[in-house]
Amino acid sequence: MKNVLIAPSVLSADFSCLKSELDSIASANYIHYDVMDGHFVPNISFGPEIFSYCKKSSDLPIDVHLMVTNPSEIAPLFLQRGADIVTFHYEAEVHSHRLIHLIKDSGAKAGISLCPGTPVSVLENLIDDLDLVLIMTVNPGFGGQKFIENTIRKVKRLRKMIDDAGTHTLIEIDGGVQGETAPRLVKAGADVLVSGSYVFK
Ligand code: DX5
Ligand code: ZN
Repeated sequence: MKNVLIAPSVLSADFSCLKSELDSIASANYIHYDVMDGHFVPNISFGPEIFSYCKKSSDLPIDVHLMVTNPSEIAPLFLQRGADIVTFHYEAEVHSHRLIHLIKDSGAKAGISLCPGTPVSVLENLIDDLDLVLIMTVNPGFGGQKFIENTIRKVKRLRKMIDDAGTHTLIEIDGGVQGETAPRLVKAGADVLVSGSYVFK
C-alpha cells in the first residue's frame, strides 16, 4: 500500500484557538496554507503574518497555496518567512518556468496548481522542473464545496505523464477530499491529500 501524505487546510480551522487546532493536526504531514487575494478568487483569507504564527507554532512543513493574481510578487513574502512548499496557479503566471526556479533557488519546493478547467497537458514542458502538481478538484476560493467528479480523469492523466517522464513530482489533490473521495483519488494516482472541512469540522 502506497504512502499517502495528509495536508490539513487551516482555512477550515477555528481561528479563535489556532494553536490548539494546529496541535490537533500534529500527526499530519504538511500544513496546507491557502492564500486568497479577493481577485484571482472571490474570497480573501490570510497572509504572511498568520503564516509566521503557524510556522512558529508547529513543527510541520508548510505548503503555501497561492490563489493570487501576481504570484511572482507574493511568493517571496512566504519564502522569506520559511515556506517549505510554494504552489502557484498556472492560470495566474505567464512566466511559470521562471517562478518555479525562483522558488527552488530559495530552498523551497515548487508546485503548480491547475483549476478544474485547465488540462494537465499545459504542464508537458514544466513537469521535469516541478516538485508538486496541485490538482484543484473544486473551483478555488472556498472550503466545503462539492467534489467535481471529472477531475479524477485528470489525476489519472497526470499520473501517466509523471510516470512517463520518470520524475518524482508529487500529485496533490485539493477540494472535497473526504472518506468517500479519498480512496478513489489515491487509486487514480494521488500522493498528497489536502483536506479542510473534513479534518477540522
Ligand atoms: C479551496 C482551498 C482548499 C480548501 C479545501 O480553494 O484551496 O485548500 O481549504 O477545503 P475542503 O477540504 O473543505 O474542500
Ligand atoms: Zn488549497
